[in-house]
Order: sequence, then structure tokens, then C-alpha cells
Amino acid sequence: MVQLNLDNRSLAQTYDVLSDNQFENGIKLIELLDVKPGDSVLDIGCGTGRLGFHVLEKIGPTGRFVGIDPLQERVRIANEKNRHANALFGTGVGEDLSFLESSSVDVVYLSAVFHWIIDKEAALRDIFRILKPDGRVGITTGAKELAHVACFRKVTDRVLQRPPYNGAVNLDDYATARHGVTSTQLVQLLLGAGFSVQSFEIRKNTRKYQSGSDIVDFLESSTFGNYLNHVPEKLRGRARRDIEAEFEATRGPDGIPFTGYTVFAVAEKLPEK
Ligand SMILES: C[S@@+](CC[C@H](N)C(=O)[O-])C[C@H]1O[C@@H](n2cnc3c(N)ncnc32)[C@H](O)[C@@H]1O
Repeated sequence: MVQLNLDNRSLAQTYDVLSDNQFENGIKLIELLDVKPGDSVLDIGCGTGRLGFHVLEKIGPTGRFVGIDPLQERVRIANEKNRHANALFGTGVGEDLSFLESSSVDVVYLSAVFHWIIDKEAALRDIFRILKPDGRVGITTGAKELAHVACFRKVTDRVLQRPPYNGAVNLDDYATARHGVTSTQLVQLLLGAGFSVQSFEIRKNTRKYQSGSDIVDFLESSTFGNYLNHVPEKLRGRARRDIEAEFEATRGPDGIPFTGYTVFAVAEKLPEK
């Protein structure tokens, strides 16, 4: 299960500093969505607001921006940084957009968030409702069918398959594994909600980290404490150290490579005929 009560100020601050990967993917997503000056935009799962501030530069003072996230500490950091009168950051979840009027938003995006949404049908239904005709939704997420070849799972699983973790840990119990979707399921969900899929691609990302501990910090903060939550508490500290060492063992000449595969999907609410 995804737990939203494990986050704290330190995890939120770490994410703000270590989330370059999501931020760069988010910038590509915003390009694909063709966000323009004056647009009305909803950022679902805005986190600490890094991508939101980039979007605010794009939409300018005539645009309207709302960012929601269930984690209070992340929303607090976004509000501490916010200098834009046309931006609103607040707590909320993608499954309930009842605070927004129907056909009122040009662009909705979920950057590295869709795999956390529990009721994906409900979220997409509400996103469809609030979008204007011709409005777009953009999603970046992991492709579940590729999780086992991405470093996150490949290296972590290698450790958790060894004693003393094997038998004590179910590898299917990662919070993201429970709620992630395959790329085909994502297309099906978008079509099922009434969207027309405009573009869909899977990109490979490789980022170099300075240390195994930086990678584990990144994984803890981007999962708001859920990363090793499926490991029994008495083994968690040891698992963390073993995973750090396992990443260190993959060090190359210019750092530790961390490869993942990200789905970029853009879909449109076509006007009714
Ligand atoms: C990896 S962070 C991504 C943050 C930001 N969008 C970015 O690109 O850096 C995932 C975010 O999803 C949020 N989240 C989790 N469940 C959610 C839900 N049901 N609705 C909206 N956001 C959710 C988390 O609180 C967290 O801030």
C-alpha cells in the first residue's frame, strides 16, 4: 500500500535537491504539451513545485496555475518559494478535482505521479471533465513491463533476493509495483476515459550519481518514505546499507550510472462533434 504519512521535512527537502531526473523529464513533457502564455494549467502531484515554477515562466502573468499534492511538507516548500500571484499550491489528490469547474483548464499534467494514483479511472474521468475541448493531459511514469531492467528494481532486487531478506520480503510489494501500469494499460486507460492519444513514447534516461547513498536518498525521498517499506523494520537499516554498497559496486569512471525508462504520454480531449 502507498503510505502518505511517512513523509517529513527532510525527505521533502532532499527530493527538492535530488529530483533533477524528474525535473528534466518534466521539462520535456511540458514541451510536448505545448504550454503557451495565458494557459490555465493544473499540476497534479506538484511536489515541491520545481516543475510548476518552470510552467509559470511559460504561461506568464496572464496564465493561471494550480498545483496540488497530498503531502503537506512538499506543498509548504512550494508555497515558501512561490513569488507568482497567479499560482496556487494546495493539498489535494488527483482522484478528486471537484474544486475545479468543468471545461475550465487548458493543460493538466502528472509528472512522475501516475504510478502513485490509486484510482486511475476516477482521476482520468475528472481530468477529462475539467479540461476544455482541445485541452491536453500529459503523463510521465514508469512502464511496469520494464521495471525489472531499470536500475531501481534491478539493483534493489539483487540485494533483497539474498539472505537475510529472501523469504522475508515480497518483491511485488513495492508501493510503485502495486500501483504502476504497463504502457499498454496506460493507453487503454486514456482511451477508456475518452481521450485521443496524441503521442506516446518510452525514453531511456541515465543519470550519474556521486555515491550509493545519494541514490538511496533519492529513492527514499521520491517515494516519500515508501521505498523500503515492504522490508521488515528490523532489516531495513541493514538493507539500506547493503543496497548502497550494491550501487557502489556498479561505479564507473565518472560516477554511478542509474538507468530508467520513462513513458511520455500526451492525450487530448477532442471537441464534441
Ligand atoms: C516523485 S514525486 C513527483 C513530484 C513532481 N511532480 C515532480 O515532477 O518532481 C510524486 C508525487 O506524487 C504525489 N502523489 C502521491 N499520491 C498522489 C495522489 N493520489 N494524487 C496526487 N499526487 C499524489 C506525491 O505526494 C509526490 O509529491
